[in-house]
Amino acid sequence: MKGTVASMATAITLGASTVLGAATNLQARDSKITPIKVKGNAFFKGDDRFYIRGVDYQPGGSSDLADPIADAKGCKRDIENFKELGLNTIRVYSVDNSADHDECMNALAEAGIYLVLDVNTPDYSLNRKDPEISYNDVYLQYIFSTMEKFAKYDNTLAFFSGNEVINDGPSSKAAPYVKAVTRDMRSFLRGNKLREVPVGYSAADVDTNRLEMAEYMNCGSDDERSDFFAFNDYSWCDPSSFEKSGWDQKVKNFTGYGLPLFLSEYGCNTNTRKWEEVEALYSEKMTPVYSGGLVYEYSEGGNDYGLVKISGDDVKTNKDYDALKTAFKKTDNPSGNGKYNSTGGASGCPVQSKPNWDVSSDSLPAIPSPAKKYLTQGAGKAVGFSGDGSQNSGTRSTSTATQGSGDVAAATSGGSAASSTSSEGAAAGLKPMQFGFAPAAVGLVSIMSAVFGASFILL
Ligand SMILES: *[C@@H]1O[C@H](CO)[C@@H](O)[C@H](O)[C@H]1NC(C)=O
Ligand SMILES: *[C@@H]1O[C@H](CO)[C@@H](O)[C@H](O)[C@H]1NC(C)=O
Repeated sequence: MKGTVASMATAITLGASTVLGAATNLQARDSKITPIKVKGNAFFKGDDRFYIRGVDYQPGGSSDLADPIADAKGCKRDIENFKELGLNTIRVYSVDNSADHDECMNALAEAGIYLVLDVNTPDYSLNRKDPEISYNDVYLQYIFSTMEKFAKYDNTLAFFSGNEVINDGPSSKAAPYVKAVTRDMRSFLRGNKLREVPVGYSAADVDTNRLEMAEYMNCGSDDERSDFFAFNDYSWCDPSSFEKSGWDQKVKNFTGYGLPLFLSEYGCNTNTRKWEEVEALYSEKMTPVYSGGLVYEYSEGGNDYGLVKISGDDVKTNKDYDALKTAFKKTDNPSGNGKYNSTGGASGCPVQSKPNWDVSSDSLPAIPSPAKKYLTQGAGKAVGFSGDGSQNSGTRSTSTATQGSGDVAAATSGGSAASSTSSEGAAAGLKPMQFGFAPAAVGLVSIMSAVFGASFILL
């Protein structure tokens, strides 16, 4: 039944895409919400620093997968609570890219609320155990299609390229694939002249390689670097403090990091939640390095993290909700720019150190060949939640990328590869062999890639 409805919706959308597309763009613009941009290591809304004050929002969780943005009624109901909490952002973990999202997105925009969107679904995502097989054209088509749908909304704040793909030391082997997906997503936006919504990764709460992962996602040539970095952090358990939680050490460790940084999940529930971390997060102890965060999570899903309980059309808020409302209310953002770092810039790539960080080369897999066309011709059909999934299908990557391969010119021209636009920081980290690639003609690049691709596959 679900399948039938979804494919009908797809057929209708495809048939009327031009007309609908135009109307939707107008609607989105009418809401007059200012898109968020990255400057240095911070987010900005126009000339003002922007701090994420948000919650994670996925009623039903991943076991009972539903698209909360396609549920206009539920969305509008919950917006009342988002406003009462004083939120400016929600994060959604999965959407059905064949569904219509206009009504909810516009209602959110009217309420001044932005969306941070994970482009993956449980069926369309990288598999940390089999990253080389799951990084394929069928997967990329799904996530590109999701981006195409959401880049048009001015209140789409950011896209997550992945969520907790790496969850311990050994799974860091999958990091090149996470980074390749991030690169491809950024290429897709530029190549199709869509709004350049910031793209980044949401890391698991893993102490042993958090910093390495952050550096890795921000090293190399500009086309391979993320726009921001986020991680989940449950280390502040009330009653606690900036020092006791270890947040002071994290600020120290991330000082000088050149991208905006925020918490994609927080809210330890070991003891009574008083949300004392809110005051720290939006104080100048942290704002030079952090840009706020997202509370896990809005709706109760059986693990006691919820702020509300949803049953049918009824929503009941709980004590945690009230405490969070109070904490947000008494915590203003710092005045001025919160001492952000306006320089920004690339990190050096971390060196391999097993078992915590198991990435032996700074090279990335090239985009799988059949997916290249999407970089200039759009993603095409949106298959939605009813699609067959991608983890074992499609064509995988067979070569190693040259640095600069994600640049607009390289991605959009069939001719010679554009030279890399590495910033100084990134160039310093280049290996001589990779440097030699940059100005080469595509023919030569393909041959060399094929040669070096073999070594990549052996990783
Ligand atoms: C900060 O970095 C040091 C040195 O790399 C590391 O030992 C420590 O665990 C890090 N602290 C936190 C809280 O991430
Ligand atoms: C600002 O960022 C740059 C580039 O990442 C870094 O070199 C510099 O140390 C940072 N400055 C401060 C005060 O953190």
